[in-house]
Amino acid sequence: MRTVVVDDYAALSQAAADAIAATVRRKPDALLLLATGDTPMGAYRELGERYRRGELDTAQVRIAQLDAYAGIAEGDHRSLYGWMVSAFAEPLDIPEERTIRLDGRLPPAIACRDYDASVAAGGGFDLAVLGLGPNGHLGFNEPPIERDAPTRLVPLTPASLRSNARYWGGEDNVPREALTCGLASMLEAREILLVVSGAHKREILRETLAPMPSADVPASWLQSAAGEVVVLADRDALPSLP
Ligand code: PGA
Repeated sequence: MRTVVVDDYAALSQAAADAIAATVRRKPDALLLLATGDTPMGAYRELGERYRRGELDTAQVRIAQLDAYAGIAEGDHRSLYGWMVSAFAEPLDIPEERTIRLDGRLPPAIACRDYDASVAAGGGFDLAVLGLGPNGHLGFNEPPIERDAPTRLVPLTPASLRSNARYWGGEDNVPREALTCGLASMLEAREILLVVSGAHKREILRETLAPMPSADVPASWLQSAAGEVVVLADRDALPSLP
Protein backbone atom coordinates (compact mmCIF):
# COMPACT_ATOMS: atom_id res chain seq x y z
CA MET A 1 0.00 0.00 0.00
CA ARG A 2 1.45 3.34 -1.05
CA THR A 3 0.43 6.64 0.54
CA VAL A 4 0.65 9.88 -1.42
CA VAL A 5 -0.03 13.25 0.19
CA VAL A 6 -0.77 16.37 -1.84
CA ASP A 7 -1.38 19.96 -0.78
CA ASP A 8 -5.11 20.38 -1.17
CA TYR A 9 -8.32 19.19 -2.81
CA ALA A 10 -7.42 20.68 -6.20
CA ALA A 11 -4.12 18.79 -6.26
CA LEU A 12 -5.88 15.63 -5.07
CA SER A 13 -8.37 15.88 -7.93
CA GLN A 14 -5.58 16.34 -10.49
CA ALA A 15 -3.58 13.43 -9.09
CA ALA A 16 -6.62 11.14 -8.98
CA ALA A 17 -7.51 12.10 -12.56
CA ASP A 18 -3.92 11.34 -13.59
CA ALA A 19 -4.12 7.90 -11.98
CA ILE A 20 -7.45 7.03 -13.63
CA ALA A 21 -6.23 8.33 -17.01
CA ALA A 22 -3.03 6.27 -16.70
CA THR A 23 -5.06 3.09 -16.18
CA VAL A 24 -7.18 3.87 -19.22
CA ARG A 25 -4.10 4.60 -21.34
CA ARG A 26 -2.56 1.30 -20.29
CA LYS A 27 -5.80 -0.64 -20.79
CA PRO A 28 -8.29 1.20 -23.03
CA ASP A 29 -11.16 -1.16 -22.12
CA ALA A 30 -10.46 -0.98 -18.37
CA LEU A 31 -13.34 -1.79 -16.02
CA LEU A 32 -13.50 1.03 -13.44
CA LEU A 33 -15.39 0.63 -10.18
CA LEU A 34 -16.56 4.14 -9.33
CA ALA A 35 -17.49 5.66 -6.00
CA THR A 36 -19.92 8.55 -5.81
CA GLY A 37 -19.82 10.85 -2.76
CA ASP A 38 -18.13 14.25 -2.78
CA THR A 39 -14.45 13.34 -2.75
CA PRO A 40 -13.94 11.93 -6.27
CA MET A 41 -16.09 14.60 -7.98
CA GLY A 42 -13.16 16.95 -8.65
CA ALA A 43 -11.28 14.10 -10.39
CA TYR A 44 -14.34 13.18 -12.46
CA ARG A 45 -14.80 16.83 -13.51
CA GLU A 46 -11.15 17.02 -14.49
CA LEU A 47 -11.45 13.83 -16.56
CA GLY A 48 -14.53 15.27 -18.28
CA GLU A 49 -12.51 18.34 -19.23
CA ARG A 50 -9.61 16.24 -20.52
CA TYR A 51 -12.07 14.19 -22.58
CA ARG A 52 -13.59 17.35 -24.09
CA ARG A 53 -10.11 18.59 -25.02
CA GLY A 54 -9.45 15.28 -26.77
CA GLU A 55 -6.81 14.19 -24.26
CA LEU A 56 -8.54 11.03 -23.08
CA ASP A 57 -9.94 8.19 -25.17
CA THR A 58 -12.94 6.57 -23.47
CA ALA A 59 -14.25 4.67 -26.50
CA GLN A 60 -13.84 1.30 -24.78
CA VAL A 61 -13.87 2.24 -21.08
CA ARG A 62 -16.29 0.26 -18.91
CA ILE A 63 -17.64 1.34 -15.55
CA ALA A 64 -19.37 -0.31 -12.59
CA GLN A 65 -21.49 1.15 -9.83
CA LEU A 66 -20.13 0.76 -6.30
CA ASP A 67 -23.32 0.95 -4.26
CA ALA A 68 -27.04 1.67 -4.52
CA TYR A 69 -29.75 2.67 -2.09
CA ALA A 70 -32.46 0.02 -1.85
CA GLY A 71 -36.16 0.66 -2.12
CA ILE A 72 -36.16 3.89 -4.13
CA ALA A 73 -38.10 4.35 -7.35
CA GLU A 74 -36.63 4.65 -10.84
CA GLY A 75 -35.79 8.31 -11.46
CA ASP A 76 -35.50 9.12 -7.74
CA HIS A 77 -33.04 12.00 -7.38
CA ARG A 78 -31.15 10.01 -4.70
CA SER A 79 -30.18 7.26 -7.15
CA LEU A 80 -26.44 6.61 -6.84
CA TYR A 81 -26.56 5.10 -10.32
CA GLY A 82 -27.95 8.41 -11.56
CA TRP A 83 -25.18 10.24 -9.72
CA MET A 84 -22.50 8.08 -11.35
CA VAL A 85 -24.08 8.57 -14.77
CA SER A 86 -24.29 12.35 -14.49
CA ALA A 87 -20.85 12.76 -12.89
CA PHE A 88 -18.90 10.28 -15.03
CA ALA A 89 -20.73 8.36 -17.75
CA GLU A 90 -22.37 11.33 -19.46
CA PRO A 91 -19.39 13.70 -19.45
CA LEU A 92 -17.14 10.90 -20.71
CA ASP A 93 -19.66 9.46 -23.20
CA ILE A 94 -19.80 6.00 -21.68
CA PRO A 95 -23.07 4.33 -22.74
CA GLU A 96 -25.27 2.05 -20.66
CA GLU A 97 -23.96 -1.01 -22.58
CA ARG A 98 -20.58 -0.43 -20.99
CA THR A 99 -21.98 0.11 -17.51
CA ILE A 100 -22.49 -2.54 -14.84
CA ARG A 101 -25.37 -1.53 -12.66
CA LEU A 102 -26.04 -2.61 -9.08
CA ASP A 103 -29.73 -2.44 -9.62
CA GLY A 104 -31.64 -1.35 -6.53
CA ARG A 105 -34.93 -1.82 -8.44
CA LEU A 106 -34.50 -5.62 -8.49
CA PRO A 107 -34.97 -8.04 -5.59
CA PRO A 108 -31.65 -7.68 -3.71
CA ALA A 109 -30.45 -11.27 -4.14
CA ILE A 110 -31.00 -11.08 -7.90
CA ALA A 111 -29.39 -7.64 -8.24
CA CYS A 112 -26.29 -8.83 -6.35
CA ARG A 113 -26.05 -12.09 -8.30
CA ASP A 114 -26.40 -10.31 -11.67
CA TYR A 115 -23.82 -7.70 -10.66
CA ASP A 116 -21.22 -10.25 -9.52
CA ALA A 117 -21.81 -12.31 -12.67
CA SER A 118 -21.31 -9.24 -14.90
CA VAL A 119 -18.14 -8.23 -13.05
CA ALA A 120 -16.73 -11.77 -13.36
CA ALA A 121 -17.69 -12.01 -17.04
CA GLY A 122 -16.05 -8.62 -17.55
CA GLY A 123 -12.74 -9.89 -16.17
CA GLY A 124 -12.91 -8.19 -12.76
CA PHE A 125 -12.14 -4.60 -11.82
CA ASP A 126 -9.02 -3.03 -13.26
CA LEU A 127 -9.24 0.02 -11.02
CA ALA A 128 -11.46 0.72 -8.01
CA VAL A 129 -11.84 4.42 -7.19
CA LEU A 130 -13.03 4.56 -3.59
CA GLY A 131 -13.88 7.20 -1.01
CA LEU A 132 -13.48 6.76 2.74
CA GLY A 133 -16.58 6.92 4.91
CA PRO A 134 -16.31 8.77 8.22
CA ASN A 135 -16.93 5.33 9.81
CA GLY A 136 -14.30 3.71 7.60
CA HIS A 137 -16.75 2.18 5.15
CA LEU A 138 -15.87 1.44 1.51
CA GLY A 139 -19.00 1.49 -0.58
CA PHE A 140 -21.56 0.54 2.07
CA ASN A 141 -19.40 -2.13 3.66
CA GLU A 142 -20.25 -0.95 7.14
CA PRO A 143 -18.30 -1.81 10.29
CA PRO A 144 -17.84 -4.32 11.78
CA ILE A 145 -16.96 -6.33 8.70
CA GLU A 146 -14.82 -9.25 7.66
CA ARG A 147 -12.59 -9.26 4.63
CA ASP A 148 -14.68 -11.78 2.71
CA ALA A 149 -17.97 -9.82 2.83
CA PRO A 150 -19.94 -10.48 -0.38
CA THR A 151 -22.02 -8.14 -2.54
CA ARG A 152 -25.25 -7.84 -0.57
CA LEU A 153 -28.05 -5.80 1.00
CA VAL A 154 -27.00 -3.94 4.16
CA PRO A 155 -28.74 -1.72 6.71
CA LEU A 156 -26.93 1.62 6.91
CA THR A 157 -25.30 2.40 10.24
CA PRO A 158 -26.29 5.60 12.09
CA ALA A 159 -22.89 7.06 11.12
CA SER A 160 -23.62 6.54 7.40
CA LEU A 161 -27.15 7.92 7.75
CA ARG A 162 -25.61 11.03 9.32
CA SER A 163 -22.83 11.41 6.76
CA ASN A 164 -25.14 10.86 3.78
CA ALA A 165 -27.64 13.41 5.13
CA ARG A 166 -25.77 16.28 3.51
CA TYR A 167 -26.31 14.85 0.03
CA TRP A 168 -30.10 14.75 0.36
CA GLY A 169 -31.08 17.60 2.69
CA GLY A 170 -31.33 15.76 6.01
CA GLU A 171 -31.05 12.38 7.64
CA ASP A 172 -34.76 11.62 7.22
CA ASN A 173 -34.23 11.63 3.45
CA VAL A 174 -31.48 9.00 3.49
CA PRO A 175 -32.72 5.51 2.55
CA ARG A 176 -32.22 2.99 5.36
CA GLU A 177 -30.76 0.16 3.30
CA ALA A 178 -28.37 -0.20 0.42
CA LEU A 179 -26.77 -2.73 -1.88
CA THR A 180 -23.02 -2.67 -1.94
CA CYS A 181 -20.27 -4.25 -3.94
CA GLY A 182 -18.75 -6.66 -1.43
CA LEU A 183 -15.45 -5.93 0.22
CA ALA A 184 -14.17 -9.29 -1.09
CA SER A 185 -14.63 -8.39 -4.75
CA MET A 186 -13.35 -4.82 -4.48
CA LEU A 187 -10.20 -6.11 -2.79
CA GLU A 188 -9.61 -8.26 -5.89
CA ALA A 189 -9.27 -5.15 -8.10
CA ARG A 190 -5.95 -4.98 -9.92
CA GLU A 191 -5.52 -1.40 -8.66
CA ILE A 192 -7.29 0.54 -5.92
CA LEU A 193 -7.22 4.30 -5.49
CA LEU A 194 -8.59 5.57 -2.18
CA VAL A 195 -9.19 9.33 -2.23
CA VAL A 196 -9.40 11.15 1.11
CA SER A 197 -9.82 14.86 1.71
CA GLY A 198 -10.37 17.07 4.73
CA ALA A 199 -9.57 17.26 8.42
CA HIS A 200 -12.83 15.44 9.27
CA LYS A 201 -11.30 12.28 7.74
CA ARG A 202 -8.01 12.57 9.66
CA GLU A 203 -8.80 10.18 12.50
CA ILE A 204 -10.47 7.50 10.37
CA LEU A 205 -7.59 7.66 7.87
CA ARG A 206 -5.12 7.20 10.70
CA GLU A 207 -7.08 4.10 11.78
CA THR A 208 -7.18 2.88 8.16
CA LEU A 209 -3.40 3.02 7.95
CA ALA A 210 -2.76 1.55 11.43
CA PRO A 211 -0.62 -1.59 11.30
CA MET A 212 -3.26 -4.32 11.66
CA PRO A 213 -6.49 -4.55 9.61
CA SER A 214 -9.52 -4.52 11.86
CA ALA A 215 -13.17 -5.44 11.35
CA ASP A 216 -14.08 -2.13 13.02
CA VAL A 217 -12.42 -0.15 10.21
CA PRO A 218 -13.51 -1.63 6.88
CA ALA A 219 -10.96 0.39 4.89
CA SER A 220 -8.11 -1.10 6.90
CA TRP A 221 -8.67 -4.32 4.90
CA LEU A 222 -7.11 -2.47 1.96
CA GLN A 223 -3.83 -3.55 3.51
CA SER A 224 -4.68 -7.09 2.40
CA ALA A 225 -5.84 -6.21 -1.12
CA ALA A 226 -4.71 -8.39 -4.00
CA GLY A 227 -3.44 -5.60 -6.24
CA GLU A 228 -1.71 -2.27 -5.97
CA VAL A 229 -3.29 0.17 -3.49
CA VAL A 230 -2.66 3.90 -3.51
CA VAL A 231 -4.04 6.05 -0.71
CA LEU A 232 -4.20 9.59 -2.05
CA ALA A 233 -4.84 12.16 0.66
CA ASP A 234 -4.62 15.90 1.02
CA ARG A 235 -2.63 17.45 3.82
CA ASP A 236 -5.75 18.22 5.88
CA ALA A 237 -6.55 14.50 5.96
CA LEU A 238 -2.96 13.36 6.49
CA PRO A 239 -0.77 16.11 7.96
CA SER A 240 2.23 13.82 8.29
CA LEU A 241 3.05 10.59 6.52
CA PRO A 242 2.65 7.55 8.80
P1 PGA B 1 -17.46 11.61 0.73
O1 PGA B 1 -18.05 10.18 1.09
O2 PGA B 1 -16.53 11.39 -0.44
O3 PGA B 1 -18.67 12.40 0.34
O4 PGA B 1 -16.76 12.11 1.94
C1 PGA B 1 -17.23 9.10 1.34
C2 PGA B 1 -18.07 7.95 1.85
O5 PGA B 1 -18.94 8.16 2.73
O6 PGA B 1 -17.88 6.82 1.39
